[in-house]
This record gives sequence, C-alpha cells and structure tokens, in this order.
Amino acid sequence: MTKIGIIGCGKIANSHINALLQMSDVKISAVCDVNKARCDEFAKKADATPYTSYEKMLDTEDLQLAIICLPPAFHLECTELCALKGVNVFVEKPMAITTNDCEKMIDICNKNGVMLWVGHMQRYSPENWIAKELIDSGKYGKLLAISEVRTCAYPGPASPAWLMDRKISGGGIMYNFGAHTLDMVKYLSGSKVVEAESSISFSNWDSEDAASGFLKLQNGVAVTFNLMGRCNVNRYEIVLYLSDGEIRIKPRKSIVACGRDGVFAKIPNGADNEYNWQYLQLRDVMDSLKSGVAKVDGEYGLEVIRSIEKLYSSSGRNQTEKEKKI
Ligand SMILES: NC(=O)c1ccc[n+]([C@@H]2O[C@H](COP(=O)([O-])OP(=O)(O)OC[C@H]3O[C@@H](n4cnc5c(N)ncnc54)[C@H](O)[C@@H]3O)[C@@H](O)[C@H]2O)c1
Repeated sequence: MTKIGIIGCGKIANSHINALLQMSDVKISAVCDVNKARCDEFAKKADATPYTSYEKMLDTEDLQLAIICLPPAFHLECTELCALKGVNVFVEKPMAITTNDCEKMIDICNKNGVMLWVGHMQRYSPENWIAKELIDSGKYGKLLAISEVRTCAYPGPASPAWLMDRKISGGGIMYNFGAHTLDMVKYLSGSKVVEAESSISFSNWDSEDAASGFLKLQNGVAVTFNLMGRCNVNRYEIVLYLSDGEIRIKPRKSIVACGRDGVFAKIPNGADNEYNWQYLQLRDVMDSLKSGVAKVDGEYGLEVIRSIEKLYSSSGRNQTEKEKKI
C-alpha cells in the first residue's frame, strides 16, 4: 500500500483525491492546508489525518509520496523539505516560478534519492494520445505545424486570488495555460523548442492576461498560439497540420481528422471511459514508483519553464507594467 500525503487542499487536490480514491493499492494517509476548515473537509473525504503544517505532517507520517498542490511559488520550499525527509514528490505544474528554482528542485531530489514528477498531464488526455498515435502512424503524412487558440475570461470568477500575482504564480496566462501548450506541443511533436517569440499584454494585473507566440521546434515543426484571457467566449482548439491531412482537437470534447480529400471524420475519443486523465496520470506515477523511471520528470518540467522564460524575454516582460499596458 503506497502511503500518500496531499499538500494544499484546493481545486486540483480535489481531482487528485477523486482519482486516488479509485485505486486499491494506495492510501491517502494525510492532507495538509493552512486553511483548517478546508483541510478538515478534505481529510474527511479522504479518510486521512489533517495537518495545517506540512513540516509536521512530514515529521509525523511515514509517506512514500507527497502530492504538492500549492501555488507555484511554494513548490521549491515544499519539494526541498519532502526530499530531505526522503519522500518522493509529485508537484503540480507549472513546476516552479523560475528555472533556477526548478534546477534546485531537481538537484535536491537527486541528492536525496527521491523521485520527482511534474503534473504535466497533456499525454493523459484522450484526444492528445489519439492524435499522437495518428501522427506517429504516418497515416496523414508528416507533422508540419501546430496552432492553438484558447479564449476565455482569465482570471475566471472561480480563480484563486494568487493567480494574477506574479510573485506567487510566476506569471499570467502564458505561465499557467502556456505550460499546458508547451507540454502538449512537446508531447505531440516529440521534439524540443529551439526558438520562442511572444507578445503579451496586461489589463488590470501585474500578470499578462493575453499572450500570442511562435515556437520553432528542433524537428522543424512551427507552432503558433493565442491565449486570450480578455474574451468572454470560451474556445479551446488545437489544429495539427500534416502533409497529407489535418487533425483538429477540442480538448476534453472531440477529435476529428481528414486526409487529402479534406473530409473530416470524427474519431471516437473514449469520452465515456471509466477513468479520466487524472486517474491515468496518477496510475502512471504509482507504476513508476515501482519501476523507478518517471515519464514526466523534473527535467521535463524545467524545459517547459525554460521555454516560457524565453517567451517572456522576447516579449520584454521586464519593462515596467506602465510601458506594457495597451
Ligand atoms: N494540472 C492542471 O490542469 C491544474 C489545474 C489547476 C491547478 N493546477 C496547479 O495546481 C497548483 C494548485 O492550484 P489550485 O488551483 O489547486 O490552487 P488553490 O488555490 O485552489 O489551492 C491551493 C491550496 O494551497 C493552500 N496553501 C497555500 N499555502 C500553503 C502552505 N504553506 N501550506 C499548506 N497549504 C497551503 C491554500 O490554502 C489552498 O487551499 C498550482 O500549481 C496550479 O497551477 C494544475
């Protein structure tokens, strides 16, 4: 039985708990949040011991894995403590708020012989793994370009207060949604970002609420993305352009593809599967605890943050906010 501690009892922790409760070989031993009421509520749901200090939780419990669901700025300190106590770490995306923090996390986990996973979940989303299989099969030829459009109100009405505070979140829509974009692009293309350019803009916060960018990948694939948080229309679409066809994804909704005839056909995406992406992600983590090889490790999370730093750097983010406002 793998004993797990959940650190941070917010939105994503709830989905981790729902998935873990479906597994017979794991036990959520402890949960932790500085917000006592929330912590008690999660402890009740998971039948776990509540803690308001993760230090105390790590000192008291004999855990094999900590799932860190804190805001990004706190990922480093918490990972360091888990590693020093010999507890394996799964940390939510984005891995941390700087590449420097990510490097420290990798280093301390290596030095203390604990595993480190980062919660980049795109490969567990059915539309993406179906698209990946189609790309790799060669059925539609060679992947040439990827284009993503995501429009919404960002932050949304239910977003946590820290989301637009750059010191806590690391950045705005490009940091949070962009981490998913980079994960999806890396996974689908099997390649690395070699060039990154972006334009970002701000309205009411010190973090951007709109970002457009271009990525060039090592294998020549070109990527464009528009992450628009000032639109009140919800749209999330990814188009994959191939030499002999096209694949269109609406994440968690649908996937369609066409060959040279241009006639799109719907591809079954198993939307009625018993298990969702979170279950599949954590199942993989549990299995890799045994194999000792993490598919989505610290180096992967670091590379995502490195690309986002490149995008910010090209956008001139470090100018004053006044200069950037449009
Ligand atoms: N994989 C995904 O699709 C996905 C989705 C949502 C969030 N996330 C990531 O998960 C992380 C958490 O996001 P969220 O939306 O769940 O945030 P949230 O604000 O809902 O939850 C964070 C919780 O951490 C608690 N907390 C803060 N400091 C603490 C401390 N020192 N000790 C104990 N508890 C503390 C807060 O009280 C809060 O309950 C972020 O990194 C976010 O980017 C990932």
